Amino acid sequence: MRLRIATLPGDGIGPEVVAQAVKAVDAVCDRFGHKAEYSYGHIGASAIEELGDPYPEDTHRMCMESDAVLFGAVGSPKYDNDPTSKVRPEQGLLAIRKRLGLFANIRPVETFKSLVPKSPLKDELVDGADFICIRELTGGMYFGERGRKDDGNTAFDTCIYSRMEIERILSLAFGYAMRRKHHLTVVDKANILESSRLWRQVAKEMEAEYPEVTVDYMFVDNAAMQLIRCPKFFDVLVTENTFGDILTDEASCVSGSMGLLASASIGTHTSLFEPIHGSYPQAAGKNIANPLAAILSAAMMFEYAFDLKEEGKAIRDAVTASIDSGFVTEDLANGGQARGTSEVGDWITAWIVNNR
Ligand code: IPM
Ligand code: MN
Repeated sequence: MRLRIATLPGDGIGPEVVAQAVKAVDAVCDRFGHKAEYSYGHIGASAIEELGDPYPEDTHRMCMESDAVLFGAVGSPKYDNDPTSKVRPEQGLLAIRKRLGLFANIRPVETFKSLVPKSPLKDELVDGADFICIRELTGGMYFGERGRKDDGNTAFDTCIYSRMEIERILSLAFGYAMRRKHHLTVVDKANILESSRLWRQVAKEMEAEYPEVTVDYMFVDNAAMQLIRCPKFFDVLVTENTFGDILTDEASCVSGSMGLLASASIGTHTSLFEPIHGSYPQAAGKNIANPLAAILSAAMMFEYAFDLKEEGKAIRDAVTASIDSGFVTEDLANGGQARGTSEVGDWITAWIVNNR
């Protein structure tokens, strides 16, 4: 199969971790007889610096013409420390999500047996936890009307959702629940927010179409607690954009490291695959960042964008093997020897090629 992959390494550790994902993709292509064709584009701070635009038109065109987007990270302290800056790297990520119509962000939370002790939670709470967070990605406060008034001394952001936006993310979530353990948790703040009440209303209406699915409704504050109090309760969790952003960072604690969580953003145009972690500027260029989330995002790319399940599994098996053999970066090393980003990438690549 021919795989046209738009590669957007972005900022900070993005280029280093994406390079490892590309090596893993090449190894899989080599083993299974596919041909990957990469194009590279700018996004985020590097795009602002090179082209004055966090999501340049050329990058957009390239993504539209590709079968999948492999994404690193965006963000830079230069902009974080300047709240008055008009253009920000994160706008690149919001723009690509909106323009590719990526309304759903799928973040699986799995545990690796040998990493259970790495989680800040008790072993028995996390061992065997396995759920999927589905975050709405192109609505809510991220995209609602915002502004300042009173000479800049009052600021507002609006959380806005239409029935159409809610229905399409919920039907995706119900579909996941049908293919998994038939348990869907809808997270909202319907005791306060009108937008949440519409979410709940639409979800209740849809329940009738999926009689096999047990649906429960949870306020977001409670969900934040239940995620770490009993992560095994969850099967499929669905929520709006901002709640999903916050809860999925929290959920990464269950796996043991932010450096492990991959995601797929899917919608109307080309799907995008990215680690959930940020650009981690302190580590940029030091060859210490964990490439596993980026590599696992490549596994999701095979599975979601190309429906190549075995290829995805080859990557997953290699990642598990690297963790089990303790060939890991410092965040997972547990006092043992810490390997470099590229060494972990090489190890995984070799494993994929050699374990046919
Ligand atoms: C994420 C990130 C982004 C978000 C940032 C970088 C804009 O935190 O993908 O979770 O808030 O959505
Ligand atoms: Mn986030």
